[in-house]
Amino acid sequence: MGTPHTVPAGTRRARTVPLHQVVPGLARDPARALVGFGERADGEVIRLHLGSFRPYLVSEPDHVQQVLKDRAEDFARTGDGAFWRPLGRLFGEGILGAGPIWADSRRILQPLFTARRVEALMAGMAETIAEAVAELDEPARAGRPVDMLAEQARIVCRAIMRALFADRISVPDALRIMRAQDAIATSVIPRLLVPFAPMWLPMPGDRTFRDAVRCIDEILVPIVREARATAADGDDIIATLWRGRTADGQPLDERRVRNDTVSMVAVTTETTINVLAWLWPHLKQSPEIAARLQEEIDRVVGGDRVGPEHLPRLRYTRMVLDELVRLYPVGWLEPREATRSTSLGGVRIEAGATLLVSPLITQRMARHWERPEVFDPERFAPERARSRHRYAFFPFGGGPHQCLGMHLFYQEALLIVANLLSRYRLTVRGPAVPDVRLAAALRPGSRVLLELRQVRPLAAA
Ligand code: HEM
Repeated sequence: MGTPHTVPAGTRRARTVPLHQVVPGLARDPARALVGFGERADGEVIRLHLGSFRPYLVSEPDHVQQVLKDRAEDFARTGDGAFWRPLGRLFGEGILGAGPIWADSRRILQPLFTARRVEALMAGMAETIAEAVAELDEPARAGRPVDMLAEQARIVCRAIMRALFADRISVPDALRIMRAQDAIATSVIPRLLVPFAPMWLPMPGDRTFRDAVRCIDEILVPIVREARATAADGDDIIATLWRGRTADGQPLDERRVRNDTVSMVAVTTETTINVLAWLWPHLKQSPEIAARLQEEIDRVVGGDRVGPEHLPRLRYTRMVLDELVRLYPVGWLEPREATRSTSLGGVRIEAGATLLVSPLITQRMARHWERPEVFDPERFAPERARSRHRYAFFPFGGGPHQCLGMHLFYQEALLIVANLLSRYRLTVRGPAVPDVRLAAALRPGSRVLLELRQVRPLAAA
């Protein structure tokens, strides 16, 4: 079927969920409310009334595929759309935006993330992760519980700053940036929840947001400037950006290199750290899954140092990661804007309307997932995964804006989990699975404290 250029006859208006039914749920438990709207949509495109902001909610896999991939020109990513507009003030125009500027950034950065390139990074990354994990020996010996979000931040920053940023950004600076990102992720919540509030209207969190952006710029802008002189021989992200050219052959200016550096630091750190934080509470809740995971890692890794050669055999571990990004797709909202009047699933969509596509919703809908709230990696056994619609599971998006880091994420996360579980036995303290807190990424609503018992010293290199 060709792409329709006028609204076809026979289309209907979307069923709507009125304001008084939308707002209370969103305020109480936004994640649950969103999934509830998906269930109510029951396969249709529906419309949420949020005052003057009336986005369409797209939850059916076939519709998701049309929006993200098949008809991506009709449904553009909105750099300045209502939802991510507050974050646009941090990232500026570039890889997280849209249009020709995004296209330049995508073309320049993509070669850094091919499967072959990621494979080539793995030996070094395995070593860095092993070293960073080994620093947990000390609290393990002292019997001191650790805050797993903080420890994962340290491990991920060490691995990523070396592999992708050639250590141009030090780990302490990366951790300071992460703290500022944390402040940003939380300070934008009021604006995410009231997306129709104009930017001139002061909102709680605005000052924190501005201070955090300033802090990130104070760290990164001098590093970006300095990197220019040595860009000719580096293959890290900042050097690659400096060497990049726009479609008409011009070098990127400092603003654009800054924007993409800030964006890439955010997407390479925050995402992985937050996904992995959910693993430990789920292992506590499901001892049989924990035992199977442990058995696989013991069998595959044994007493060795974890290396790239182990990763293809960590099949169950990979299924566990899939199940984590099903329940906790950190990029939980992928808003799009209709570039012209059109229709979707028989429903009329006017030019300029916002469409909300959310893996959090679709991946937790009972229409598509049996007992969706249960943590069950078996869903990702190859034979079961094959029978599923490609867009029933899209934690990394799809189409032209598909996540560049998907392959890297799985490899890096396998290394981290295998290192941790081959070296320690980990026990979560406190309540089982924290509630989901919706911020710029999905994060646990409470701290994840772990007790560690060392079972194996690091094998000699
Ligand atoms: C090493 C880690 C990662 C890197 C380097 C990375 C990189 C990126 C980049 C550069 C984009 C923008 C692509 C574009 O618009 O052209 C992107 C988009 C995206 N990423 Fe990642 N990412 C990483 C981890 C993750 C993780 C762990 C998740 C979720 C589980 C995730 C989910 C997404 C989603 C959903 C989008 C698409 C957003 C949209 O379509 O509007 N990413 N990622």
